[in-house]
Amino acid sequence: MQRILSGIQPSGDVHLGNLLGALRNWVADQHTHESFHPIVDLHAVTVPQDPEGLREATLRLAQVLMAAGLDPEVCVLFVQSHVPEHTQLAWVLECTAGFGELRRMHQFKDKSAEGDFVSAGLFTYPVLQAADILLYDADAVPVGDDQRQHIELTRDIAQRFNARYGDVLVVPEHRIPPAGARVMDLQEPTRKMSKSSGDAPGTVWLLDEPDDIRRKIRRAVTDSLSEVRFDRDARPGVSNLLEILGAATQRAPQSVADDYDRYGPLKNDCAEAVVELLAPVRRRFAELRADPAETQRALRAGAEAAGEVAAATMARVRRAMGFLPP
Ligand code: TYM
Repeated sequence: MQRILSGIQPSGDVHLGNLLGALRNWVADQHTHESFHPIVDLHAVTVPQDPEGLREATLRLAQVLMAAGLDPEVCVLFVQSHVPEHTQLAWVLECTAGFGELRRMHQFKDKSAEGDFVSAGLFTYPVLQAADILLYDADAVPVGDDQRQHIELTRDIAQRFNARYGDVLVVPEHRIPPAGARVMDLQEPTRKMSKSSGDAPGTVWLLDEPDDIRRKIRRAVTDSLSEVRFDRDARPGVSNLLEILGAATQRAPQSVADDYDRYGPLKNDCAEAVVELLAPVRRRFAELRADPAETQRALRAGAEAAGEVAAATMARVRRAMGFLPP
């Protein structure tokens, strides 16, 4: 059975981009792949987090992931900081990654331009991500399009490590879905939908009320031309709606476009498809919310299963690198 790994940060709630670009595919893959899904709290602290807020967000994210269909009895769902090998492997991989290649990471360039304090962790973040993946010998990494460069870096690091120390790490492939890999902000369709947009009207959250979802999608920015055509460069707004509706209904956005000649009906159908997609998530989340101890138990079991695999990889890495056993 092929093994996959993919993580998500507990910084802010889960949005429609996370669902269509990543989470939905994890839910489908868990039955056909050996699946590992860390909630990457160590990545979240590359920028300051309120401690109580982080604890709450981590538990809540686990509940949202389970509400969306990740079953901790089927996949390995765990909290990254519960498995200390992530940071152990990250250190030795930092000694394998080049300063220059990290400096070229788009996400670092974007994020470091935003704040005045740039942590060293924000810079080495992609190496921690490589460690997340390589620790579990993942064959594939299902992610949205924004993670493409990080997975390429992971492959480069693994290949360089293997060239130095022998065949120790599995070199993973990225897996980017044909539709939904790049969900854009509804108000600024040239910017990706993101967790950092706060309460902005351009982001649909998984737990939004149906009427909020309808309002956000009906008010989505399109353009002054009224022809419905899939063209990301010339028609970013309408193309985003086609992409969302396509991803929600398992169709190619180009073929969805053929069904519409006006924006109104497209927006209505898109809104209803998203409402329908999210209704069971909201219901199930309310149930899980009522029993946090059960979620904690599932996360402990997940960390135990993950820890076994992680410890074996780290032992292999230490041996290959020549660290003297204690
Ligand atoms: P994060 O938490 O930002 O996002 C989680 C997943 O959601 C995808 N995604 C999107 N897909 C489509 N449209 C969007 N607008 C959109 N926004 C986010 C992301 O591509 C991702 O798959 N660095 C990662 C977390 C991470 C990770 C890993 C991922 C840490 N370790 C190991 C894979 C493997 C991140 O910040 O994702």
